[in-house]
Amino acid sequence: MTSPNLAVQLAPQNRRGLLLANPVTAASGTFGYGTEYAEIIDIQRLGAIICKGTTLKPCSGNPQPRMVETVAGVLNSIGMENIGVDALIREKAPVWAGWSVPIIVNILGNSIEEYAEIARLLDGVAGVSGIEINISCPNVSAGGMEFGASPEAAAAATAAVRADTTLPLIVKLSPNVTDVTEIAHAVIEAGADAISLINTLKGMAIDLASRRPVLGNISGGLSGPAIKPVALHMVYQVAREVRVPVIGCGGIASASDALEFILAGASAIQVGTATFANPRAPLDILEGIEDFMAKEGVPQLSELIGAAT
Ligand SMILES: Cc1cc2nc3c(=O)[nH]c(=O)nc-3n(C[C@H](O)[C@H](O)[C@H](O)COP(=O)(O)O)c2cc1C
Repeated sequence: MTSPNLAVQLAPQNRRGLLLANPVTAASGTFGYGTEYAEIIDIQRLGAIICKGTTLKPCSGNPQPRMVETVAGVLNSIGMENIGVDALIREKAPVWAGWSVPIIVNILGNSIEEYAEIARLLDGVAGVSGIEINISCPNVSAGGMEFGASPEAAAAATAAVRADTTLPLIVKLSPNVTDVTEIAHAVIEAGADAISLINTLKGMAIDLASRRPVLGNISGGLSGPAIKPVALHMVYQVAREVRVPVIGCGGIASASDALEFILAGASAIQVGTATFANPRAPLDILEGIEDFMAKEGVPQLSELIGAAT
């Protein structure tokens, strides 16, 4: 049999499109700007890299400590630490422009205007193939409630970004909501080309000796194997209801994890926390998917997407 075809189009409705050679991508915040991993693994074999969340101005993030291990994952409260969009355009994008792997810039703002401004600055920048909007971010003008917590706020952020860029637009949903499908519908209506989910689940840890929360920020986001069943279920729920591509994320550490998400309806997947323990995890996952398809005689990835729904 000839090699299976793993290519996937993540923005079929968008004039520019977002064609990935395969469905395995690196999740935002766990793969830096890609440059950090370029020495360790062949990053050009990845389907795409989603870079660290980028704000309008450089940001130092939350107080230390910012990471704590849990039984089956990690709690982090890194916050918005990043170099800011201007430095990203000046220093990172020229490097990316020479790469074959598409780079998707994850963006976050404290206001609708900030989201729009970052999108406007990124539009037309060589080396940037798409935008992923992180809506798990406090909306300052709404008393700090996260954009991702209400369909109206999530849609408003999406619409503002859509108005200011023709780049393919992925909206990354928060799991910290009552009905994730409601938010998915709202952001698609507002112009999202694709949906990714999930971001981290809110959690905390307490230190017995000091009798204080472990994280400097008190609460953090839980990621890793612990969240996989939650993420898989949300992907399943959303993929069954929407017509745009869905990108699955949450606790994916092996090819079988990734295949479960694909069968649940994900057109692509993101590998996050697993890369901390094994920087080669995304490539191991890619090779495992290829092996599975070859063994099962599946010529096209599309035959697997949503097969369990
Ligand atoms: C240290 C760390 C930093 C993260 N930073 C971001 C970020 O900047 N933007 C974002 O959308 N998600 C961020 N995430 C969330 C991940 O992209 C991913 O959605 C989440 O960790 C679940 O996937 P995983 O279990 O494979 O890690 C971060 C996660 C971790 C662990």
